[in-house]
Amino acid sequence: MGTTVVTGGAGFIGSNYVRHLIQHTDDDVIVLDAMTYAANESSLAGLPGQRVRLVRGDIADAEVVDAVVKGADVVVHFAAESHNDNSLNDPSPFIQTNLVGTFNLLEAVRRHEVRYHHISTDEVYGDLELDDPNRFQETTPYRPSSPYSASKAGSDHLVRAWVRSFDVRATISNCSNNYGPRQHVEKFIPRQITNVIDGVRPRLYGAGLNVRDWIHVDDHNSAVLAIVERGRIGETYLIGADGEMDNKSVIQMILRLMGADEHAYDHVNDRPGHDLRYAIDSTKLRTELGWAPQYRNFEEGLAATIDWYRRNEAWWRPMKAATEAKYAKTGQ
Ligand code: NAD
Ligand code: TYD
Repeated sequence: MGTTVVTGGAGFIGSNYVRHLIQHTDDDVIVLDAMTYAANESSLAGLPGQRVRLVRGDIADAEVVDAVVKGADVVVHFAAESHNDNSLNDPSPFIQTNLVGTFNLLEAVRRHEVRYHHISTDEVYGDLELDDPNRFQETTPYRPSSPYSASKAGSDHLVRAWVRSFDVRATISNCSNNYGPRQHVEKFIPRQITNVIDGVRPRLYGAGLNVRDWIHVDDHNSAVLAIVERGRIGETYLIGADGEMDNKSVIQMILRLMGADEHAYDHVNDRPGHDLRYAIDSTKLRTELGWAPQYRNFEEGLAATIDWYRRNEAWWRPMKAATEAKYAKTGQ
């Protein structure tokens, strides 16, 4: 395909996408990343320097964005402020990066006629009751709950408007909760794994009955590449792997897999406005593009992820203390 710009390519999903591109395509990759607290340059370690170039720059800066997008063949836009808890403490960077940043990218791909894929979340649809037989579909109305999900919802609306008004060649995907290697330790699964490694009890928000629909990051990324290569312009695709599980069960599974007592966790303050359940119906993606997840057994994927964090302490150790200091302020 030529040159792909991966925004946020030093973050969790973006860095795994860069690896996926190097393995499965002949593309050259330009990573555009502001290297915020969420980035980790070592997530790009070992990749071929002649195919992957890192540009440090803020997507909220229109000039930087224009210079990087000009001459590219595809932009896949992962960069975001991505953590709900942070958005509750300070929403302002979420507006800058997720809304202004997306606007700048859309203007640049419009100007230079570059194919654009927008990475979004199922959280734009709000939440479901535990016993709701329906799951999110592409037609589900938007009903975001947090500053994070509202900013992502707004960015999705910008993309649709740019497609309709300016004929930008764009697609959107909304994926459920990812897990796997290189995820920041502020997020649920890596936080608990690294706590157990440190001899600290895992932290469950509220009663822990909230359900998330887990998907391995490599399955998310294989779906994204399928959409970039074969998706219909202007369309939205939901990405999910039928991985619903409540938080309490996830914590117990982590403790069990790490050889600890499965009741050795603490209930802590709940998140304000905490969404109860997310669940994705990915029929459109599967039938139209023939995509299927490779990681069908969550317990095996989780065991491999635990193993990765055990073997890569040098990757996560520098960010652990500051992350826990942030949580201590909200009693979480
Ligand atoms: P992450 O927080 O791990 O990484 C985000 C990356 O974006 C970081 O490298 C950061 O430095 C970069 N970034 C932040 N602000 C920037 C700016 N202004 N300019 C340039 N770069 C900037 O996030 P993630 O979990 O990898 O999520 C990636 C994308 O996937 C996001 O758009 C998120 O909304 C979406 N998503 C995430 C999940 C999930 O479970 N993590 C699920 C569905 C969708
Ligand atoms: P998170 O990884 O923040 O993802 P999201 O908010 O996008 O779903 O949290 C996943 C779930 O785990 C969510 O229901 C909140 C909960 N949670 C805890 O119970 N304890 C924790 O320490 C964290 C970080 C999250």
